[in-house]
Amino acid sequence: MAMSQAALKAEQAIGHSDNATTVQDVTNPDTAPNAAGEGTMKALAWMGKNKVEMIEVSKPKIMEPRDVILKITGSTVCGSDLHLLHGTVVELQKGDILGHEFCGIVDEVGSEVKKLRKGQRVVASFQIACGNCYYCDQKLSSQCEKTNSNTIENAMYGGRTAGMFGYSHFTGGFAGGQSEYTRVPYGDVNLLPLPDNIPDEKGLYLSDVLCTSWHAVVDTGVKKGDVVAIWGAGPIGQMAAEFSLLNGASRVIMIDQNWRLDFVKDRYPHVDTLDFSTLGKGESVTSKLKEMCNNRGPDVSIECAAGEYAKGWAHYFEMMLGLETDTSELINEMITSTRNFGRCGITGVYVGFTNHFNIGSLMERGIRLIGNGQAPVHLYWESLLKMIEDGQIDPLKMVTHRVRLEDLDKVYYKFEEKADGMQKVYVETKFSAPACEGSPELKRY
Ligand SMILES: NC(=O)c1ccc[n+]([C@@H]2O[C@H](COP(=O)([O-])OP(=O)(O)OC[C@H]3O[C@@H](n4cnc5c(N)ncnc54)[C@H](O)[C@@H]3O)[C@@H](O)[C@H]2O)c1
Ligand SMILES: [Zn+2]
Ligand SMILES: [Zn+2]
Repeated sequence: MAMSQAALKAEQAIGHSDNATTVQDVTNPDTAPNAAGEGTMKALAWMGKNKVEMIEVSKPKIMEPRDVILKITGSTVCGSDLHLLHGTVVELQKGDILGHEFCGIVDEVGSEVKKLRKGQRVVASFQIACGNCYYCDQKLSSQCEKTNSNTIENAMYGGRTAGMFGYSHFTGGFAGGQSEYTRVPYGDVNLLPLPDNIPDEKGLYLSDVLCTSWHAVVDTGVKKGDVVAIWGAGPIGQMAAEFSLLNGASRVIMIDQNWRLDFVKDRYPHVDTLDFSTLGKGESVTSKLKEMCNNRGPDVSIECAAGEYAKGWAHYFEMMLGLETDTSELINEMITSTRNFGRCGITGVYVGFTNHFNIGSLMERGIRLIGNGQAPVHLYWESLLKMIEDGQIDPLKMVTHRVRLEDLDKVYYKFEEKADGMQKVYVETKFSAPACEGSPELKRY
């Protein structure tokens, strides 16, 4: 039995805690009790390790008085969805509807939803927050204490994250928005109205990527004049590069190994790149970064890749044999590259335990290693929306494809292979408005 299912069975045997104030394990309206509304819809579901499929399921319905049913007009695929596809994040069940970044039109509201009305355009945050617990009071929505009652996560981490859309039973078990309709618990907390001058294609990315990249930069503490190195040139890394410069960084260096660096050179010409696949004998990312930064290294380093991407055989086998869940190679590389008393942030997803961690370098050289956490979207999304309105940020810069929900299973595999020059996609549904100016042309698969 795959680890993902074993963890789910264990959770079912132990049982959830009683902290959640919203129903858990509603990942598919047809398998959760009392969750199916009238009529059917299309949705993308996880069907097993490395397998997703488009399915036809019942539409969701209002289950609690603060629910909103959203008619989806836009969603996307995130690097985080690959951790689900690969089964790295545990406790997925066959038929779970995925997707944690989406926007749409309010279709139905529960009796206690006061701030939203039918027909309003909104974007959802990837996390589900209650709006008034210890963390929610500080807008640290990703750590809400009332929306996820998973026991294994609590035991393994010594605390839990908030519930999340389309992100396994490990984070509460909620159906995601890679579908035509989604149920949003605590709708007036977890949906942000979009003004008329912001099209879906720009507003959508407030769900996750913009807030995550912004958080990576401010939480790791990028300051005026800093040299910043970023591992992973995906959408999160690219926006973190933009935001570092906006926060006063004097230079940004992005590290990756594929065509994404060409994309960066093309669209972000003010950012320097380091392709680790072209390093010569005796060279390393660390030696190269020292060379590029006064023989000391960058002031700040940010990990925007993930712990599942081993570089060498040793970690590849240790992970395959279950001796660790995440490689320490990227973190060690960040630590040894960064100047003494510099700061390192981890935003790429790590799920468990790692071997061969270079604690000596961390301690002796005074490196501040910061787990950025799942980003608290509610802390930032209003100010980032304002920055989009003011033209300070253009989210379309990282978008390469516009696709249809009907093709999303095929798109997942393309996205995984980084084929067709694909990175951030905009997924339209039959409810979407015509493409806005600057959107890529629709591509069918
Ligand atoms: N903390 C949060 O709240 C949060 C939110 C969203 C995404 N994430 C995570 O952020 C990470 C980046 O997201 P994304 O959508 O940009 O993902 P992505 O998969 O599109 O991009 C990741 C990039 O990392 C590169 N990479 C892999 N191994 C590398 C290495 N050894 N050195 C340098 N680069 C390497 C890949 O080539 C790829 O271009 C993912 O792990 C995602 O799960 C975290
Ligand atoms: Zn995401
Ligand atoms: Zn809360």
